[in-house]
Amino acid sequence: MAELVVAFDVPSGREALALAKRLPGLRWAKLGPGLHVREGPALAREFLARGLRVFLDLKWHDIPSTVAGAVAAARELGVAMASVHCLGGAHMLAAAAQAAGEVALVGVTVLTSHDGAGLGQVLGRGVPDVSCEAERLARLAVRAGLRGVVASGAELALLRNALGPAPWIVVPGIRSAADPADDQARTIAPQDAVRGGATHLVVGRPITRAADPGGVYQRLVECL
Ligand code: C5P
Repeated sequence: MAELVVAFDVPSGREALALAKRLPGLRWAKLGPGLHVREGPALAREFLARGLRVFLDLKWHDIPSTVAGAVAAARELGVAMASVHCLGGAHMLAAAAQAAGEVALVGVTVLTSHDGAGLGQVLGRGVPDVSCEAERLARLAVRAGLRGVVASGAELALLRNALGPAPWIVVPGIRSAADPADDQARTIAPQDAVRGGATHLVVGRPITRAADPGGVYQRLVECL
């Protein structure tokens, strides 16, 4: 069964904890750079103390020893999942995987904000098909020992087919038919993400901006 991960993209730790209280049955909380820089590891500790699993989504991309150090710190903190950029390369991914221990490390393949032209500019060559790049990077991540990857719904089927059944595929950009897409270019309905082989569905604004976040959370859980 897939897991529902709530992206706590709210302005303060106080608001994050207040929101968590309104989500009965909450299991996973994703903390991103904004809240982490503002609140530090204390907020992750608050979530952990409430028995939640924390996904520290800081998308590290640096030299291997630096990233391994960050992963080791995440492990000491006690988070359940953390993210790195696959573009950091095989050595960085392997060093990160070695430091991860029980932390499930997932690799971001191609940022959903990149199109073929943008990625081509970064790589210095033409990129006719962004999905091929995502598949290539996903294979690199799994070979290096990562637990899985982060992917958009657009690449989900391709990656599940390429990686086989075991690796985690964490999918953001989840939107039901009635939800606004916001700034997500490639969205997928929760039922389709589950059918396509996602292991974790990441949902932010459809929950954080809802008048009744607990009700939306509950309806999403029923899709899993
Ligand atoms: O509000 P929304 O449901 O669009 O939030 C999606 C979350 O997933 C955000 O926290 C965003 O940072 C994260 N994410 C994403 N696309 C990626 C990786 C992470 O939207 N490729």
